[in-house]
Amino acid sequence: MINLNQPSLLALLEAADRDAYVSGEEISKRLNVSRTAIWKQIRKLEAEGYVIEAVPRLGYRLVGRPSRLTRQEVQTRLQTREFGRHLHLFDSVSSTQDVLRELAEEGAPEGTLVIAEQQTQGRGRMGRVWVSPPGKGVWMSLLLRPQVPLQATPQLTLLAAVALRRAVSAAVPLDIGIKWPNDLLVDGKKISGILLESAAEEERLRYVVVGLGISANLEPEDYPEDVASKAVSLKMAAGRPVDRAELIAVTLKEFEELYELYLRDGFEPIRALWEAHSINLNRKTTLATPRGPIEGIPRGLNDMGGLLVELSDGTLMPVYSAEIQSST
Ligand code: BTN
Repeated sequence: MINLNQPSLLALLEAADRDAYVSGEEISKRLNVSRTAIWKQIRKLEAEGYVIEAVPRLGYRLVGRPSRLTRQEVQTRLQTREFGRHLHLFDSVSSTQDVLRELAEEGAPEGTLVIAEQQTQGRGRMGRVWVSPPGKGVWMSLLLRPQVPLQATPQLTLLAAVALRRAVSAAVPLDIGIKWPNDLLVDGKKISGILLESAAEEERLRYVVVGLGISANLEPEDYPEDVASKAVSLKMAAGRPVDRAELIAVTLKEFEELYELYLRDGFEPIRALWEAHSINLNRKTTLATPRGPIEGIPRGLNDMGGLLVELSDGTLMPVYSAEIQSST
């Protein structure tokens, strides 16, 4: 028996006249597969966002497709001055970070945005893979060209978390906390991730590529086993899908507003906003750092955006690069 692959089943359904059903028998014959195999593939297509009507004795009919992001949908919702005004939208890329980095090297202006429906090599912090299935998430990268020293990068990381938290809170009525430095959590599960990659020249930042990944409408089966217990989508947590174009537009608006505030007034207001929503402050915490584990109690952020961890001898140690392992 040949392997039934999705494009051919989809092609059969798509080729049918608008209101016509394709019978199970016909599919089975044309693709040389069993009824069970057809059913499995129908389930898979449905999980990707296709809506397939199944009527006994008539067969199957394609009645809906996954909602795609379009340039127009995003642009009509934009309320920003610069962010997202240079928009590059792709069906599939390796990573939006790589695409934007190339554009940045070619001189793309601040606020340039790359969005992809799917990433085949999405990446996360600490060299991890970022699963980015098509049509359901928000996978995007935003270009910043701030005139700030290289050491200010942690501040931008925290700013990004505050902006994203504001945008997601506007989209869903959920209690969202920030896990240091920039993960957003709902009931202890991760709903989004942020990855900053920068290019520097001597002590000066040339540009920063801010990668934002929001698990908007992912389904439980979209998560690999090792991630499933630690992550949740907005749709799963809120019980209804979110409008991805709207979420993108609101994220850019919040980001631009906070970024302008930061460039004008410095890090202080951002620090206060971040601390107000942190889930780690004043809790006994274990951090994995490149130099080994640290135990202590995070008390707040320092001026540069480092996490101030109170050690057992009472000293405050600033931490810039680490992973929180436990927080009780
Ligand atoms: C993390 O929490 O580990 C960060 C995840 C960042 C994912 C986003 S999705 C868009 C952009 N492109 C990538 O390859 N990664 C970031």
